[in-house]
Amino acid sequence: MPSYEGRLELTWTNKHLRLLAHDDGSYEWMPASDFRVAEVRLLHNAGSVGKVAPEWDRAKDNLLIRGDALNALTSLIELPEFAREYVGKVKLAYLDPPFNTQQSFLQYDDALEHSVWLTMMRDRLAQVKTLLAPDGSIWVHCDDSEQAYLKVMMDELFQRENFVANIIWEKFTTRENRTDISTSHDYIIVYAVNRHLWKRNLLPFGEEQVERYSNPDNDPRGPWSSLPIHAKAGPGRRKEQFYTIALPSGRKIDPPPGRCWLYVEERFKELVADNRIWFGPDGNNAPRVKKFLAEVSQGLVPKTLWLGDEVGTTGTAKAEILALFPQSPPFATPKPEALLQRIVQIGSNPGDIVLDCFLGSGTTAAVAHKMGRRWIGIERSGETVNTYAVPRLTKVINGEDQGGITKTAGWTGGGGFRLLEVAPSMFEEQGGQVFLSSWATNSRLAEATAAQLHYDYEHDPPFCGRRGHSRLAVVDGLVNESVVRVLIKALGESERLLVCGTAIDPAARDIARELRPGSSVRKIPQSILQEYRQGMLWVQQSLPLATADDSEVSTPAEVTV
Ligand SMILES: C[S@@+](CC[C@H](N)C(=O)[O-])C[C@H]1O[C@@H](n2cnc3c(N)ncnc32)[C@H](O)[C@@H]1O
Repeated sequence: MPSYEGRLELTWTNKHLRLLAHDDGSYEWMPASDFRVAEVRLLHNAGSVGKVAPEWDRAKDNLLIRGDALNALTSLIELPEFAREYVGKVKLAYLDPPFNTQQSFLQYDDALEHSVWLTMMRDRLAQVKTLLAPDGSIWVHCDDSEQAYLKVMMDELFQRENFVANIIWEKFTTRENRTDISTSHDYIIVYAVNRHLWKRNLLPFGEEQVERYSNPDNDPRGPWSSLPIHAKAGPGRRKEQFYTIALPSGRKIDPPPGRCWLYVEERFKELVADNRIWFGPDGNNAPRVKKFLAEVSQGLVPKTLWLGDEVGTTGTAKAEILALFPQSPPFATPKPEALLQRIVQIGSNPGDIVLDCFLGSGTTAAVAHKMGRRWIGIERSGETVNTYAVPRLTKVINGEDQGGITKTAGWTGGGGFRLLEVAPSMFEEQGGQVFLSSWATNSRLAEATAAQLHYDYEHDPPFCGRRGHSRLAVVDGLVNESVVRVLIKALGESERLLVCGTAIDPAARDIARELRPGSSVRKIPQSILQEYRQGMLWVQQSLPLATADDSEVSTPAEVTV
């Protein structure tokens, strides 16, 4: 037997590397172990609108996060305060990233090098996957610029067997006559986290479907439509399915050639007795079985073709934004609320958590809010957040947004959200050496350190964090024997100590271990940076990556404080 190895995968330049997202929207290649991509950022409060939870419970609020999607998603996964609330709990993720059309829009640029775009997407999709619930789904919007590549990459990340559908959305109903073939659609690629666990909702009947039901015989069970009661004859059919039926008019009929009746005679008679068989107004038509509107399944199975007439077009979306912000230049690439309504309807139920990490003007959050879902929206551009997303969601909460799906969802206002900001790095590099940033050396040092070490930040002097039985203390200065003694004295009986200091007296380590076994003393930021280098490679845990060879990318020089 010959042996085979290898698997189908998409490869691209620098696939094994990560990208550092710069504030200006550009990306820089980095090895995964570099602190600049491995660091966990804090999420700082930047305000709130409407009704929100007390600050200690802020993770439970609807969250609008200003910052790069990867930083924000990593914070939601790694900061215990948010991880408890979101890891494995997001029911629906809709992502509408820049499609890589090589264009420049008023609010953002959409022109990345191909492999940069793929890496940018892979790393964010991997984090979204960690946040998704086992019965959740992810919907990624794109066009032909990257659709084929994205599909293969998502096969690798989410597994091919979890692919659900590639939806075609008719975004333009008009024709572009200046091109060879006029593009009229986008794609929305849908994967379940686990195809066996995912249960989609049906779509509500529209007027068109309801109009197909009527009640010509005034049946007290209400409107009905009817279906023929014959089926193809062949293997598996019983001889009892072939018989002659006498119609109420007296005419006798047999099943059409090559067909048999759906029901054996006894069952057919039961249906007739229950007035479920329709022989036409004169009792002379071939029998049909009645399907009552009240008894059919609760809606329609979604199809892959979504027409602009049903869910809106880009024109609809622009008009929605203009109605909200008549004074501002319209956001360049909004999606219509009805499109999001259909996605949210199929993929989630009231109370579920919906995530969009390329939020733009805030359509997903607005629709999720109006439909009674909880939501997280992440957007990199501060200007887009301030000009569109925050004012739009504020109007939704105040009941001042009368457009989009407001009427069909029966929305009148209420609720609230928190605005969070991805904090700057806690490190700074100068002349090849890494220092603690000035913002992280003052009162925020404890919070920043707790985040990197996965401790719950808890202001309970002399401690500032807790993880199981371990208490964390952070000292912006020297940790010596007497500091350790004071801290150990403050510990509970079964607790251990982790004390971090910007300078360490070596004797402090021994005394900590001796006084409370299991306790330790660490120098920051060196020990944290060291941990990143030694392979806290978060993406590699969830991605089947090629072995990383980081050698051609320089790692930061020795660290000193
Ligand atoms: C196509 S638009 C989303 C439009 C949105 N669906 C709507 O209805 O308004 C893409 C958005 O992603 C944002 N974006 C691009 N790269 C990002 C990143 N790395 N992190 C977070 N947001 C990003 C852009 O600023 C832009 O607002």
